[in-house]
Amino acid sequence: MSHEDLAEVNRRDFVTAAAVGLGMLAVPCCLQNVCAQTTQPSAPPVPFDVGPKGDFSKDGPDMSFEKSHHVILMRQDNKLYVMSSHCTHRGRDLVVQDDHLHCTWHNSDFKFDGTVIKGPARRGGPLSRFAISIDDAGHVIVDKSQEFLDDKWDDPKSFVDLGPGA
Ligand code: FES
Repeated sequence: MSHEDLAEVNRRDFVTAAAVGLGMLAVPCCLQNVCAQTTQPSAPPVPFDVGPKGDFSKDGPDMSFEKSHHVILMRQDNKLYVMSSHCTHRGRDLVVQDDHLHCTWHNSDFKFDGTVIKGPARRGGPLSRFAISIDDAGHVIVDKSQEFLDDKWDDPKSFVDLGPGA
């Protein structure tokens, strides 16, 4: 067997060992039920009612639909928009921490507008937003079938303007 053949065999052994090692690391993660969040099917992409627009009268995050639909309603400067609650790194649901959103998994932080402050979520980028509208009854309707990345956040379907009195 030549030196080149031996080097190729060693390289294959190393790759195989590394793959097995990674597989062993993945098992405890799922056994702890940490991965379940990212593997569960998301809410069906049908529009849903999050309540009367008057329920969103104060600036800041509303986490009322984080558990049921994995979204965060956010009012800023009289605009209401809806963002994914999943961290863009590995999908952990975010929590509110002081004046920002925090991922407890690997410590990424996001501003309330969904842009990344720090952490590995920098690679994943800002949080997605979804279509939002007001129906004839004055209720806020969220449609997760229409997603807006940060270059489309000025799309009129990605926010509703509540005005100062809403
Ligand atoms: S899943 Fe949020 S930082 Fe890794």
